[in-house]
Amino acid sequence: MKYLDSPKQIMLRNAETLVLRRPSKKDARDMLDYLGIVGGESDNLLFGAEGLKLTIEQEIEYIGRMNSDENSLMVLSFVGDTLVSIAQISASDKERIAHNAEVAISVRKSYWRLGIGEAVMRELISYAKHHKNISIVSLGVRAVNHGAKKLYEKMGFEQVGVHKDFFNVDGKFFDEILMDMHIGSQE
Ligand SMILES: CC(C)(COP(=O)(O)OP(=O)(O)OC[C@H]1O[C@@H](n2cnc3c(N)ncnc32)[C@H](O)[C@@H]1OP(=O)(O)O)[C@@H](O)C(=O)NCCC(=O)NCCS
Repeated sequence: MKYLDSPKQIMLRNAETLVLRRPSKKDARDMLDYLGIVGGESDNLLFGAEGLKLTIEQEIEYIGRMNSDENSLMVLSFVGDTLVSIAQISASDKERIAHNAEVAISVRKSYWRLGIGEAVMRELISYAKHHKNISIVSLGVRAVNHGAKKLYEKMGFEQVGVHKDFFNVDGKFFDEILMDMHIGSQE
């Protein structure tokens, strides 16, 4: 059985229920819309309000690839019918670095500070702990993204380096902080 094959429910701080699940092809339109919205709400992602500029067909293909990849997990989170977060973890398929996984996360702004980022990160880390190969989880965060850095520190990530001038946001350059978490073997 695949990790997160059935949805999980979590109670949020405001007593609403968060549902975490894998994406299905039917989510493609919602996901593209969501990415445009969160891209416009924050300068801390790799894209702005233009979103990912993918067609529905390309997004459907991506969802299919993520769901069939044993080294990746994409997690969608919903409050009612509203898509409030997309996150993913992917380990390399190259043997020499297959124990390394990268995570990425975003939460819709009107749902910040309710515990969604933390709940979703816990899910990604749990996936890594259950995975047969993954022992290092890594991420990159814009140096000025203090909220996200706090979240990652709370989860146990540690700064391991700085990528100078990695981000170019409207012609202004920002450092990227590189953070790692070394996890034990299977739970
Ligand atoms: C960063 C982000 C994912 C946090 O999501 P969230 O659902 O608001 O986070 P949570 O409510 O689960 O917060 C968990 C912890 O993170 C820290 N945190 C989150 N946002 C914070 C903020 N704005 N300021 C300070 N600490 C913050 C706190 O330690 C918090 O724990 P606490 O509530 O007990 O104090 C969200 O703000 C976001 O999507 N931002 C835009 C995109 C982005 O920056 N993505 C990350 C790119 S690397």
